[in-house]
Amino acid sequence: MLPVSENEKLTRVGPGTPMGDLMRQYWIPACLSSELEADAAPMRLLLLGEQLIAFRDSSGRIGIMEHRCPHRCASLFFGRNEENGLRCVYHGWKFDVEGNCVDMPNVRPARDFKDQVKARAYKVVERAGVVWTYMGPRAAAPPLPAIEALMLPEHERGLRVHQRECNWLQSLEGDIDTSHFGFLHIGSLDAADVDPHTMHRWGVVDRAPDYKVRETEWGTMYAAYREAEPGTCYYRFAHFLLPFFTFTPNGTFQDQVQCTINVPMDDTHTMTYNVGWSRRTPALQTLKTGEPIPGLNADMKYLPRTNDWYGRWRLEARRDNDYFIDREAQRYTSYTGIQGIGRQDQAAVECMGEIVDRSLEHLAPSDRMITLTRRCLLKAARELQDEKKVPPTVDNPDIYRRARGGAFIAPAHVDWLDAYARNMREAVSPLGMLITEAAQ
Ligand code: FES
Ligand SMILES: [Fe+2]
Repeated sequence: MLPVSENEKLTRVGPGTPMGDLMRQYWIPACLSSELEADAAPMRLLLLGEQLIAFRDSSGRIGIMEHRCPHRCASLFFGRNEENGLRCVYHGWKFDVEGNCVDMPNVRPARDFKDQVKARAYKVVERAGVVWTYMGPRAAAPPLPAIEALMLPEHERGLRVHQRECNWLQSLEGDIDTSHFGFLHIGSLDAADVDPHTMHRWGVVDRAPDYKVRETEWGTMYAAYREAEPGTCYYRFAHFLLPFFTFTPNGTFQDQVQCTINVPMDDTHTMTYNVGWSRRTPALQTLKTGEPIPGLNADMKYLPRTNDWYGRWRLEARRDNDYFIDREAQRYTSYTGIQGIGRQDQAAVECMGEIVDRSLEHLAPSDRMITLTRRCLLKAARELQDEKKVPPTVDNPDIYRRARGGAFIAPAHVDWLDAYARNMREAVSPLGMLITEAAQ
């Protein structure tokens, strides 16, 4: 269980909060590049509790700024996106993507003071289909994260976004809660139904593995392991990478180039990005008959987009309709009666409430990764607040290149970190970015 005061520190992300300040040290994924077209209508954007406006100007540059106009605070959402700038419709002041006021047409030229007016705008970079913004205190922003999945060319990349109506950490803890996989997602699966040649069958045979966890330079990592063939272990490795990235274990370690990002929109809404290499080996999806595993098929339909702060990437299956749970299917074919891994995860993390009261929990040995990750986040936030110490991943994002999630079989007598190092050396890295020395 976690004291209420620590839960507050972990979950609040607005300006001046410990976790909000920690996240503002890093570049933040703001939206997809495809959401912003040149000279199109500006878009409401909620990030870390700040109400912002995003637009792409006539030259293709992106502006992300406070939504209230610096003149008399009318919302720039109603602005005219025209000729390389956004013009407020109240009195016509116009701003470029850097927030400079470039026109003040309701003031006589002799009294014009546009040079002294600036809208609060954040730095923006586009990379591999995602718009990133830096909302932090530095004049010169740090480098972008060196995460391979987030640098893949478009034709080799799968990228999916959806909104979750709960706190960011709740969503993230679902990614590192490996123990749920054998129940929520494949609880109805019998070991006899799985291809006897796939190593992933060991996760079906034994759903109560042992765990190793440790703090790392990038955050935290774990391995869940159980005996496979005599003298061997089936390992599932995964990572949390500061401040909101995860590499999950669900796939073959060798080519599992994948990343999940849980970006807080505010304290109670999260935008979740799933990015992966399209040529990686698919995870366990079929029975030995070749039929799909019941309940696993993804069906992530979106509700129509609106201009509201919360109007983007909302799923059709949601809390209001109980995620279309089918009790017949739950009884006879699928464990949950909820169709699709993504939808099952969504239901599990949202049904706890917007911000779960972690003082009510009874954590088990299977939750050690969650406990360690909370501690890691609290420590990083406290060190920043008290000692102005910035986590090493801010200025040296190459640290991320030493992490890889996924499953493999290793000899039982080999130490888990040695097994990790060996498999790192053999892993495929499409952009050659993986650093394969042992984890520190
Ligand atoms: S409030 Fe925007 S120009 Fe006056
Ligand atoms: Fe899951």
